[in-house]
Amino acid sequence: MDSFKIIGGQRLQGSIEISGSKNACLPMLAATLLLDGKGTLGNVPQLRDVDTILLLLRELGVDASQNGGDLTYEVTDQTVVEAPYDIVRRMRASICVLGPLLARRQAAVVSLPGGCVFGDRPIDLHLMGLRALGAEINMVHGSLVASVGAAGLRGAAIDLGSEFGSTVLGTMNVMMAACLARGETKITHAAREPEVVELIQFLNKCGAQISGAGTSTLTINGVEKLSACNYQIPADRIEAATLLIAGAITGGDITISNCIPSHLTAVTSALQQCGYNLEANGNEIRIDATSVSAVAHSIETAPYPGFPTDVQAQWMALCTQIDGDSRLTDHIYPERFMHVSELQRLGANLQREGNQVVAHGPCRLSGAEVMASDLRASAALVLAGLVASGETLIRRVYHLDRGYQKLEHKLRLLGANVQRVVDETSP
Ligand code: EPU
Repeated sequence: MDSFKIIGGQRLQGSIEISGSKNACLPMLAATLLLDGKGTLGNVPQLRDVDTILLLLRELGVDASQNGGDLTYEVTDQTVVEAPYDIVRRMRASICVLGPLLARRQAAVVSLPGGCVFGDRPIDLHLMGLRALGAEINMVHGSLVASVGAAGLRGAAIDLGSEFGSTVLGTMNVMMAACLARGETKITHAAREPEVVELIQFLNKCGAQISGAGTSTLTINGVEKLSACNYQIPADRIEAATLLIAGAITGGDITISNCIPSHLTAVTSALQQCGYNLEANGNEIRIDATSVSAVAHSIETAPYPGFPTDVQAQWMALCTQIDGDSRLTDHIYPERFMHVSELQRLGANLQREGNQVVAHGPCRLSGAEVMASDLRASAALVLAGLVASGETLIRRVYHLDRGYQKLEHKLRLLGANVQRVVDETSP
């Protein structure tokens, strides 16, 4: 298991390009199970999670080959319907194959992904939606065993609302199955995240009939068949937000390019509220944090277009360096605070109560050995390491490799002192 060694104290400067979006790419790859023929995806990020879903898709009869950011795909075997635990347990997004398998192969056996370090992650809404379309789903020996009768799937009215808002992957799973169901499906309280919109555009390009993208009501008219297409994955808005915060926390002046500023409004306006200077120009955003005396700004996570839960941990790292008290409330994942105790090891002054943390800033962080617990928590530790005095050693950065393409390389290009320490004992 590799580690990162960071010597803090450098102001970041320069320009860096954002990679393709993990959370847009993973469901789009799962959607290839629905398609006939050969297609390509461009700007595919090189990430551990992408490797994992490709492994799963190959098990399921998809011929996929990746060359840098270019990927070609074609389903060559429609007979396999089982997604094995050994792969599914590595990544919860594997649940996205359930809808496509049911719709295209009329059956699916998908292991339950299991627990998650930041709390309960139920899939009841996915199952409710698929059942409403006519699927029969049972739990057998830790796996979801699903099938559809001879009549196939048929359109239905499905409400995906919950106390947390909606469900991103649930909306995608149900929508993918509905594409090949007979008749009309109406999904209310659908997720509005850009990744859902992107999947809709991809599926429509393949011949699906989905309307309402970006709103909370989706109408899907089932079609007989979907054909593979060529599609370009958009920029990763969470990577973009993380790098903007890297610019802010180090008092730097950086420009991120190849991003979509409109996807980042919640984070960029929060940064502006703190006093940072931001400027969007086409697909670039510049943050100038030199000579800024930032002031505390509280955030509450919410479904898009609200402040993303996937940036809560990184925001906390930033709050440790800002004058005043900031309150961070996570309404989506009330337990997503694994980073708190590790940030405290670096000297952060944080107080947690339920789904809220108050960060008292500014405080001097000092380098220490810390452990990455999940993807975004790892990113928060990297950000803290960039400003901690001395050396910070972050263990288990394989979590970072799941969702950030060569983060250490990008940070080095901006002037940070970050080295990957390769674990020679790792297989
Ligand atoms: N929920 C239910 N029932 C369900 C599904 C979800 O109650 O059937 C609840 C969840 O417990 C949570 C809320 O609804 O409280 C939202 O969960 P959602 O289903 O939207 O999460 P997800 O689709 O499983 C995706 C991203 C996550 C991101 C969340 C929220 C991917 C692969 N994952 O997960 O990304 O945090 O949406 O925006 O797209 C990450 O990239 O680090 C990451 C965890």
